[in-house]
Amino acid sequence: MSNRIVLNTISYHGAGAIKEIPGEIERRGYTKVFVCSDPDLVKFGVTAKVTGLLDEAGIAWELYSEIKPNPTIQNVQDGVKAFAASGADCIVTVGGGSAMDTAKAIGVIVENPEFADVRSLEGVAPTKKHAVFTIAVPTTAGTAAEVTINYVITDVEKVRKFVCVDTNDAPEVAVVDPEMMATMPAGLTASTGMDALTHAIEGYTTKAAWELTDMFHLKAIELIAKNLRDAVAEAKSGVPGSGREGMALAQYIAGMGFSNVGLGIDHAMAHTLSAHYDTPHGVACAMLLPIAMEFNKPVVAERLADVAVAMGVDTAGMTTDEAADAAIAAVRQLSEDVNIPKVCEAIKADELDQIADDALADACYPGNPREADHDTVVELFKQIMA
Ligand SMILES: NC(=O)c1ccc[n+]([C@@H]2O[C@H](COP(=O)([O-])OP(=O)(O)OC[C@H]3O[C@@H](n4cnc5c(N)ncnc54)[C@H](O)[C@@H]3O)[C@@H](O)[C@H]2O)c1
Ligand SMILES: [Fe+2]
Repeated sequence: MSNRIVLNTISYHGAGAIKEIPGEIERRGYTKVFVCSDPDLVKFGVTAKVTGLLDEAGIAWELYSEIKPNPTIQNVQDGVKAFAASGADCIVTVGGGSAMDTAKAIGVIVENPEFADVRSLEGVAPTKKHAVFTIAVPTTAGTAAEVTINYVITDVEKVRKFVCVDTNDAPEVAVVDPEMMATMPAGLTASTGMDALTHAIEGYTTKAAWELTDMFHLKAIELIAKNLRDAVAEAKSGVPGSGREGMALAQYIAGMGFSNVGLGIDHAMAHTLSAHYDTPHGVACAMLLPIAMEFNKPVVAERLADVAVAMGVDTAGMTTDEAADAAIAAVRQLSEDVNIPKVCEAIKADELDQIADDALADACYPGNPREADHDTVVELFKQIMA
């Protein structure tokens, strides 16, 4: 059996990296950019940091920003129409996972119009052509959608989120500039950072994990444990520092890993919470993380012991079991320190059966190292109920 790694062709990292964007467009001869962002980022002037550079370089662009958090099929279909009307020949997406995922789906459908219904892209989509040339600029430090081969879309009608996996959606260029994340409030810094930690821990314990992805995941865990508290403190004080820079890099490294091996039950359950209750993705992942680790411990205790070491826990003298427990405790402590809520008030007791079924049907569930049945998933959800 062979293993596959898919990454961006080019990625830029560090403060001021967005200055590279005009050159990457010009040297390929593109003439008009479809800028895919979201309404708040436009309002806060974050999108303008990139469009200002396009203006300076004399590159034409048109904005599409009808995108909500947990983006919908409608957001994608409207975007496909807007792309066609714009006359653009490339995409620059500026945003969190929601804007970047929508841009990926738009870029794929423009080149593969037989998937215009969007639903048919679920799972491993058999598209033939690579998406429209895309430069992805993350404004949150969490999803790593700028490097992954996944995107997640909400089907409002069927009350579910679905994951699309397609090597044709990987943005050619990623520009990971911590200054683009500077306006994130503390709560968003915390929840998106915990999403990145969930990617790294689920990616490290997922069934398909192997040496190359282990390397990415352990480094990401180490960087997140070192930097997330500082990044949240910097967001609160408004004083920039190394925490935000560390998180920008850490979340990308986690993406280099999990994109290539998959995730597990935490993400399967988190997608379901977002579909039913519009729970922000990072918050859902973070609340469930220690619970999912506890559930998986019987089959991945050694791996969780490695997680403890990566998080800086001194495990000398501990048994494997104790070290695995220490990893779970370290995650709980980090969540508490960055004020992640412990309960999801929105969950309704009479919907538990439905959300458990939906979680087990999610594309992330098969990667989980331990099998769960319906009743077990109900019990796991109950742990975050008010
Ligand atoms: N493609 C992938 O591999 C992947 C991985 C994980 C999650 N996801 C998906 O990504 C989505 C979540 O993305 P997200 O957590 O990045 O949040 P998001 O994109 O949904 O953004 C949440 C809110 O934060 C605001 N925001 C973003 N950046 C900001 C900034 N710099 N300053 C101020 N406000 C800012 C946005 O305007 C929005 O209102 C979910 O739909 C999730 O399923 C995708
Ligand atoms: Fe995630």
